Amino acid sequence: MTVVGPFGLSVRDQALEADVQNGLSAVEAGLLDATKSEVPFITEAAQHLVRAGGKRFRPLLVMLAAQFGDPHAPGVVPSAVVVELTHLATLYHDDVMDEAEVRRGVDSANTRWGNSVAVLTGDFLFARASHILADLGPEAVRIQAEAFERLVTGQILETAGPRDGREPVEHYLDVIGGKTGSLIAVSGRFGAMMSGADERVVDILTQYGERLGVAFQLADDVLDIASDSHESGKTPGTDLREGIPTLPVLLLRARAEALGLPEDLELVALLDGDLSDDARLAEVLRRLREHPSLEQARRDTVRYAQEARAALTPLPDCYAKSALEELCDAVVHRAG
Ligand code: IPE
Ligand code: IPE
Ligand code: MG
Ligand code: MG
Repeated sequence: MTVVGPFGLSVRDQALEADVQNGLSAVEAGLLDATKSEVPFITEAAQHLVRAGGKRFRPLLVMLAAQFGDPHAPGVVPSAVVVELTHLATLYHDDVMDEAEVRRGVDSANTRWGNSVAVLTGDFLFARASHILADLGPEAVRIQAEAFERLVTGQILETAGPRDGREPVEHYLDVIGGKTGSLIAVSGRFGAMMSGADERVVDILTQYGERLGVAFQLADDVLDIASDSHESGKTPGTDLREGIPTLPVLLLRARAEALGLPEDLELVALLDGDLSDDARLAEVLRRLREHPSLEQARRDTVRYAQEARAALTPLPDCYAKSALEELCDAVVHRAG
């Protein structure tokens, strides 16, 4: 048994291990290649977050999904580069939107070079992703375009908030399905599709990716409260400070309204106050970490991960299926 990839999956098959390791190495080379520009400053800005690390979760998913066809088919690695580049681009933009100062344990691009450079570097990365995508054919371009539309719609709906009458948790689930589920679904889909897997398998891995993506974002939203920056490479409480509603906070608000407990109402009042104040933010984080709503959000995250796992049921038993099942637990229990 060998431990493979960013989530320390225990892989019991040498061929699978070699395919994943080699695939991820080729993706690294592809990312560095795709982020080179004739203009040295663009290369520096575009490679800033590539070199800072990151989990490469989406490329890992592409590699595992490709096991259901020919994992060495020519489209597999480029499609993984496309999803990681797209993800990377959204991080540059997201950190501008969320005024995040730290990403992948380093200064965010907006901190280092300002918002304009961060936005334009994100655009540059999209352009490079599109260039690679063109060689993968019109169907791949269409799939990516649709997912990207969903991703951007999710980000905009998060900013706009629920329309009148829309239940906040329902709205939140729409948002995270769009902003995160969409691209993780594409990762499963591209891996299967590029490897030439059956249509039915492609659909299963798309569904799996969508659900796993929702669980992944739920876990991320718990980590914004529960983790420290050494583990996440980000600043804890960024969502709270920006007033971005996440599940633990939505559950707290619902509970405060339903039960009217003084300690809940006090915490809601603190949350609604000025969290640009570091001491106040630290106090909110301290209280939320001990609050039952955080535990509830963790339980909901596990439930979504179980739904992802259930999507795999029709697949034949194999090492790749086991790794995908293990990934469901890893996503929920990750520290960063
Ligand atoms: C962060 O994604 C943004 C979310 C969708 C939660 P990751 O947690 O995959 O970030 P990196 O790639 O490891 O930095
Ligand atoms: C994740 O955004 C989704 C995208 C980047 C499209 P978040 O704002 O929730 O993620 P982090 O916590 O900054 O990584
Ligand atoms: Mg955001
Ligand atoms: Mg963010």
